[in-house]
Amino acid sequence: MPLSRLSLCLAAGLTFTALLPSLGTPALAQADVIAERRAGLKRMGEHSRAIKEILDNKGDLAGVAASARDMEGFFRTLPARFPPGSDKGDTKALPAVWSERATFEANAARTSELAARLASTAATGDGDASAAAFRELGQSCGTCHRSYRAR
Ligand code: HEC
Repeated sequence: MPLSRLSLCLAAGLTFTALLPSLGTPALAQADVIAERRAGLKRMGEHSRAIKEILDNKGDLAGVAASARDMEGFFRTLPARFPPGSDKGDTKALPAVWSERATFEANAARTSELAARLASTAATGDGDASAAAFRELGQSCGTCHRSYRAR
């Protein structure tokens, strides 16, 4: 391989690794990036269902706080899970994820903040306030899906 191409590959690899600090694995293929983010989002859906179940049944809010904290961390890493080029393949992400990036990132940041708020509210033991915080969190999922996820 000529040196210039080699350094190009290295540069691309480094950029890619920098985009995925939380995954820790360098140079994942795009298919793996897509599969990993979808698995993570599935986990977010499971957290939402588990939280709703606890709130509906006035169960232990410690479980709500734990799920919400995982959601807070995941949504902080969400933009990095949509690197350029990961629009092709087994994905429902719309082109707007890349063309309207600032709003996409703001949606992810707000969702992370709302998850953090839910976690701290649940930690106070207030079920009604937790339910209100959870409704707001759910709305922020829907807001992003309407613009950025194909049906
Ligand atoms: C910043 C935008 C954004 C936010 C906020 C967001 N999502 Fe998504 N979500 C997406 C996109 C884009 C996809 C499609 C991903 C793909 O197919 O590659 C998706 C897909 C999903 C999927 C399907 C995963 C699969 O492939 O099986 C679930 C479940 C999901 N999201 C749950 C949630 C929940 C729950 C929340 C809120 C707590 C949420 N999402 C918030 C953008 C977002």
